[in-house]
Amino acid sequence: MNLFTAAYFSLLDLRNRLDYYLRQHVHAPSRPVSVSRGSRPEILSAYPVDVRTRAGDEIARLCAAYHFESVETGFTERDLRENYFYLAMLDEAFRRSDAALPAEVTVADIGPSSWFYVQALFSAFTYFGTTRARAVNLTGFEVDAYRLYADFHTRRDHALANMRGLAGVEYVDHGFEPDPSAYDVITSFFPFVFEKDHLEWGLPRSLFNPRSLLNATLASLKPGGLLVIVNQGLKEHEEELRFLQEAGVSPKAAYKMESLLFSYPLDRYIITVKK
Ligand SMILES: C[S@@+](CC[C@H](N)C(=O)[O-])C[C@H]1O[C@@H](n2cnc3c(N)ncnc32)[C@H](O)[C@@H]1O
Repeated sequence: MNLFTAAYFSLLDLRNRLDYYLRQHVHAPSRPVSVSRGSRPEILSAYPVDVRTRAGDEIARLCAAYHFESVETGFTERDLRENYFYLAMLDEAFRRSDAALPAEVTVADIGPSSWFYVQALFSAFTYFGTTRARAVNLTGFEVDAYRLYADFHTRRDHALANMRGLAGVEYVDHGFEPDPSAYDVITSFFPFVFEKDHLEWGLPRSLFNPRSLLNATLASLKPGGLLVIVNQGLKEHEEELRFLQEAGVSPKAAYKMESLLFSYPLDRYIITVKK
């Protein structure tokens, strides 16, 4: 690390320590975010013409398999498209890992942020490989739950609105902690792999420890449990694979996710691990 980068990181850390301390200790009281309950936004026209039919077929397949049409409305167009993409990511990760979920599944999601994708997560766990709804216990652990959004609601307020009364789902306002053999599945969408991204997101340096977070995650899986990690970009994916290698763990699957239903500036890469 050169001198300029070191100074930049130290400045970010200083600012983040102060901001984070204030957020954690003097955050506004919880206030419900109002969700519009209109009909579902039309999304197919958002896809380029050359993939629209394929995107429509894939959405229809996911809706049928995961009963996603019956999910309450209240999505923005972007949220709905991203929910389909997260559903597609989990569907493919489960299938590539030969996942067999128990009749009642216990799941942790690490770093849910505002949990705009919780409906997809819930549907994926409820219906993967079954037509009868299974019971889902889903906990989201968010280390920075009180970040204030432009509408003066906290991240947690938004997460609670996105959960929209799902039974068995909890949003916890602290970081993930090891809980030996507690979970059938743990998901981690875009964990910070590089310190720069962690600092630029607004977190203090002291909270950056991707290796120990990974070890805590692995220890918290039940025997036979499944870990699903999604990274953005090839560099993050390769670094994540290095962390796993250092931990002595071989992935069950590692691949680039096709961006048919949503595309981002950086491709999404998926790693699964079976304990
Ligand atoms: C890049 S964001 C990803 C947000 C979300 N999962 C998504 O798919 O868009 C990473 C999130 O992880 C949270 N985070 C970082 N370290 C954490 C930890 N040890 N435990 C729980 N959450 C953590 C951050 O506050 C942030 O909300």
